[in-house]
Amino acid sequence: MSSLKGGVGKTTVTLGLASAAFALHLRTLVVDMDPQGDATTGLGVEHGTNQSIAEVLRDPRASTVETVITPSGWTQDSVDVVDVIPGSPLAVNFDEPHPKARDLWRLEEALAHVEADYDIVFIDCPPSLNALTQTAWTASDQVLIVSEPGLFSVAAAARALRAVADANAERRDGELRAAGIVINRFRPQSIEHQYRVSEIRDMFGDQVMDVQLPERSSIQQVQGAARPVHMWPGEATQDMAHLFDRLLRNLLTHS
Ligand SMILES: Nc1ncnc2c1ncn2[C@@H]1O[C@H](COP(=O)(O)OP(=O)(O)OP(=O)(O)O)[C@@H](O)[C@H]1O
Ligand SMILES: [Mg+2]
Repeated sequence: MSSLKGGVGKTTVTLGLASAAFALHLRTLVVDMDPQGDATTGLGVEHGTNQSIAEVLRDPRASTVETVITPSGWTQDSVDVVDVIPGSPLAVNFDEPHPKARDLWRLEEALAHVEADYDIVFIDCPPSLNALTQTAWTASDQVLIVSEPGLFSVAAAARALRAVADANAERRDGELRAAGIVINRFRPQSIEHQYRVSEIRDMFGDQVMDVQLPERSSIQQVQGAARPVHMWPGEATQDMAHLFDRLLRNLLTHS
C-alpha cells in the first residue's frame, strides 16, 4: 500500500486486506515498513522492540527474518496465520532519499527465505518515495495506491502511478504492476467528494478500483482495539469488511 501523501488510509487498507485474507484462512504476512509502526499496533503487536524490520533490513538472512517474524494479536485464539514483521522508529536509518540500487533488494532477499510459508504478503509503506518505499516495491508484484477524494491527493496519486511505472522500467523482471488506485474516506453526501471522484475516474479511467471505501468512524475504533475489521460487530463495519473482501478478490485475480 503506497501513497505519496500522509494520512490517506494506507495502513487502514493494509489492515482491512489482512483481515479479509485472515477471513479466507490465507496464511498472511504483514510487513510494516513505516517507522510510525501503525500497522504493527493495529495488529496487536508491540511497536518499538528490537525485533523489527530494522534488523531485517540490516541483515536479511533467514535466521534474522525467522526471529523477527511475530504472530499478530489477531490470531491468538485461532489456528490461522497472520504474522507481522513489526515496524520500528529505527527504520528511518534505511530511508535515504537516494538509495543505492543494491540496498533496495534487502527486503526481497529476506522474504525469499519465508515466502513458501505464506499465501499472501502485504507491505504497509510510509508516505514518501524514499528508500523504504522503493525497497518495498522491489519486493512486490503489485502496488495498490490509496487516495482520498481531495485535490492534493489526486496529484499525489498521479505521481505515485508514474513512480511505479518508472520503478518497473528499472526492474529486470518487469513484474511490478500498479494494481490501481483505491479511493478511501469517500462521503457520498459531499458534493466536493462527488466532484473529486468523477475527476479521478475521468483522469485515471480503469486504473481506479471499482471498490470505493467510505468514511466510517467505526474503523478507528476497530484499529484502536487492534482487532480485525471482519470480527467487529455492527452493520456499517461489516459493510466495510465486505468491501475489503471485494478489494482482495480483485487483487488476487491479477496476481
Ligand atoms: N475510511 C475511513 N473512515 C474513517 N476513518 C479512516 C478511514 N480511513 C482512514 N481513517 C483514519 O484516518 C487516519 C489515517 O489513516 P491511516 O493511518 O490508514 O493513513 P495512512 O495513509 O497510513 O497514514 P500515514 O501516511 O501517516 O501512514 C487513521 O486515524 C484512520 O483510522
Ligand atoms: Mg500508515
